[in-house]
Amino acid sequence: MTHAEASLHRAPDAQSFDIDRVRADFPILHQEVHGRLLVYLDNGATTQKPVSVIETLERYYYLDNANVHRGLHELSERATRAFEAAREKVRNFIHASEVQEIVFVRGTTEAINLVAQSYGRRNIREGDEILITQMEHHSNIVPWQLLCEQTGAVLRIVPMSERGELVLEEFDRLLNERTKMVAVTHVSNALGSINPIKTLIRRAHDAGAVVLVDGAQAVAHIQVDVRDLDCDFYAFSGHKLYAPTGIGVLYGKQALLEAMPPYQGGGEMIERVTFEKTTYNALPYKFEAGTPNISGAIGLGSAIDYVKAMGLGAISAHERSILQYATQRALEVPGLRIIGTASLKCSILSFVIDDVHPSDVGTILDQLGVAVRAGHHCAMPVMQYFNLPGTARASIGMYNTRDDVDRFIDAVVRAKHMLSKQ
Ligand code: ALA
Repeated sequence: MTHAEASLHRAPDAQSFDIDRVRADFPILHQEVHGRLLVYLDNGATTQKPVSVIETLERYYYLDNANVHRGLHELSERATRAFEAAREKVRNFIHASEVQEIVFVRGTTEAINLVAQSYGRRNIREGDEILITQMEHHSNIVPWQLLCEQTGAVLRIVPMSERGELVLEEFDRLLNERTKMVAVTHVSNALGSINPIKTLIRRAHDAGAVVLVDGAQAVAHIQVDVRDLDCDFYAFSGHKLYAPTGIGVLYGKQALLEAMPPYQGGGEMIERVTFEKTTYNALPYKFEAGTPNISGAIGLGSAIDYVKAMGLGAISAHERSILQYATQRALEVPGLRIIGTASLKCSILSFVIDDVHPSDVGTILDQLGVAVRAGHHCAMPVMQYFNLPGTARASIGMYNTRDDVDRFIDAVVRAKHMLSKQ
């Protein structure tokens, strides 16, 4: 049994979440950066990859690499089987009804652009309203702004509170018969707030709107059940779920996807082409023009196998305890202010210190072997709300430990002493 196979045979309950064995599955963590053992706390930007995913990619390129859905030869059939098996793993992971509802894309950003351009341009007209929130990532703002410019639709913004919670009364007030689309993040990448999306979806549906959920920061931390949520679209990226970069998923309800025009034209998405008329392929291929990211999809399937073997419930419980510990320790640092104190949070600790610029904090932490992200986190409206140039952000993954938190806090204290004028 390879290391990767052994790691997939572990029991998934919270008690048996063996952090040392999990860490052993992530080779990249066991290196020194600037002379110190790496503490990787930038999982909101991208997660590291377990050996099982790396070995899956290696095996694919050593033995099976070929184009999918095209060849009659053995390698092409193997690649196609593995690619479609990955789609089934995604379906099962997010509890979609049909594999036809799982479209492979480059990532969350492409998924949202696909919906804005394909669903939006077909269904949204001048004077219609698109409702987003103040805590969205730019990738759930700009595609809708582009659509508004193209159609004359109007963008409306649900405000949030100082804690980083959506103001639900305002959500209700802004919803009306002109609201055709509600696009909302499941978890804020800048604040860590978990939004009550099931409630938002129900209320949006009652008002006749379609709902897209940006799940980029959620899928690695929260069990997602698209049927239970009843969302119309759900978008996420593989690389934040321990899979390779360049692969992501758009889930869409079958009836909606069926009625939408293609997003891009090319190979794979057609049924028949003549110069006079082209007819399109069945779902999901209608939305997968060109050679897809085959190894990425297979790697995503492997990452899902790994997460399921560890148990998402156990991972969530572990991460919750690490976030609680990090929050408690951060509050002990004089001058440190946590940005984002929603009652329901996951994975993310954003903060500022006194008069210190967050980028300087990030740079000092890096010198001490601690990787965090600093800046506006592609959520400039969040920073504008808090009147900040940015924050430093520690974001937790399944392999982080209390020792990581202690190293992080020691580094923050050091950065404060070096940089603060107060
Ligand atoms: N959207 C990613 C982040 O929040 C890149 O860091």
